[in-house]
Amino acid sequence: MAEMKKKAGAVADSTPSVSDVVESDASTTTEVEAALDKRVARGEPILQVRNLVKHFPLTQGILFRRQVGAVKAVDGISFDLYQGETLGIVGESGCGKSTVAKLLMTLEKATAGEVFYKGQDITKLSGRALHAVRRNIQMVFQDPYTSLNPRMTVGDIIGEPYEIHPEVAPKGSRRKKVQDLLDVVGLNPEYINRYPHQFSGGQRQRIGIARGLALNPEIIICDEPVSALDVSVQAQVINLMEKLQDEFNLSYLFIAHDLSIVRHISDRVGVMYLGKMAEIGSDQEIYEHPTHPYTQALLSAVPVPDPEAREGRERIILTGDVPSPANPPSGCRFRTRCWKAEEKCSKEEPLLAIPQRFATTDSLAAHESACHFAEEKDVVGAA
Ligand SMILES: Nc1ncnc2c1ncn2[C@@H]1O[C@H](COP(=O)(O)OP(=O)(O)O)[C@@H](O)[C@H]1O
Ligand code: SF4
Ligand SMILES: [Mg+2]
Repeated sequence: MAEMKKKAGAVADSTPSVSDVVESDASTTTEVEAALDKRVARGEPILQVRNLVKHFPLTQGILFRRQVGAVKAVDGISFDLYQGETLGIVGESGCGKSTVAKLLMTLEKATAGEVFYKGQDITKLSGRALHAVRRNIQMVFQDPYTSLNPRMTVGDIIGEPYEIHPEVAPKGSRRKKVQDLLDVVGLNPEYINRYPHQFSGGQRQRIGIARGLALNPEIIICDEPVSALDVSVQAQVINLMEKLQDEFNLSYLFIAHDLSIVRHISDRVGVMYLGKMAEIGSDQEIYEHPTHPYTQALLSAVPVPDPEAREGRERIILTGDVPSPANPPSGCRFRTRCWKAEEKCSKEEPLLAIPQRFATTDSLAAHESACHFAEEKDVVGAA
């Protein structure tokens, strides 16, 4: 696998309330806990998402609410996250990225599908086993201004996860642990009694990251962690995330709406469109050999610093709005905006697979793409 890179964000707690932590079937729980204790080798899958679906019901009526449809926020997504890697997930606003994040965090209940963490389907877990999983999958949120409680000190914010997972740090040791975490994320440990408003956006995001690290998780899901920050600060936070990934052996799922941010931190990239995965591959495959028209259009919009490369490339302007996820187009969901759409595209849904024409080649175009007519297009200037 390519060199591992990373990302950043503001943290919140993925953890359940204490009352959530009830005993479930003891033998099953013990078995699950034993499985969760196992270490996953670098480069092996730590999270496997299979046909994940989340439909939000649309209801009508005041007294008698009846379901009249559903917002198909996530509609059958599959991918793996490998131990130690950064998987970037990119797509326009509303395509379902945050819903995927919440499903992986078990903050939302899946309508269908599975999420295997170390081989255990976490969508089916409850009680102690789920509690153990939640400790290991943490989140960093987009907005460092709203994701930290303004009435809590930094020490209380970073140390709060220990209230729900006291097994990680006994009470007497917590202050020291929080100070160590402040140091790790590049903040002065003496700031422990300060409040969020006394920090800049970038510093707040560091607080969020420290909180995300508090429980020694294995996976951190970052939902647009640098989108709210100035460009100069974005790079600092991303660099910090990269350093922490190596130091703590973390796997990152890094969500962004912009392909340019994800490039610097991702080993692999998945491109989402209207609740589906359009294309997924290594960073080189996606940026230099994209085969899905949607990825090609997104790449053609990425600013290019080199004037020569800029001049040579074609800018693909997507027409039309993103359709509603409550009523997605038949066949290929991208067809209403795709310049290559043919009749087949409205009749048959393209599956995410390595296109046959490339399958037996060693071309970098031989990666998964959900398009009937997947082919390379020169958007090299954008890479
Ligand atoms: N709790 C909810 N109830 C109903 N619809 C929702 C809910 N959460 C998200 N959605 C809808 O699901 C779709 C995907 O949302 P989201 O996952 O937030 O997208 P993204 O993070 O890519 O912008 C959107 O159409 C959004 O309006
Ligand atoms: S399947 Fe058809 S509509 Fe969909 S991306 Fe490919 S060419 Fe475009
Ligand atoms: Mg979102």
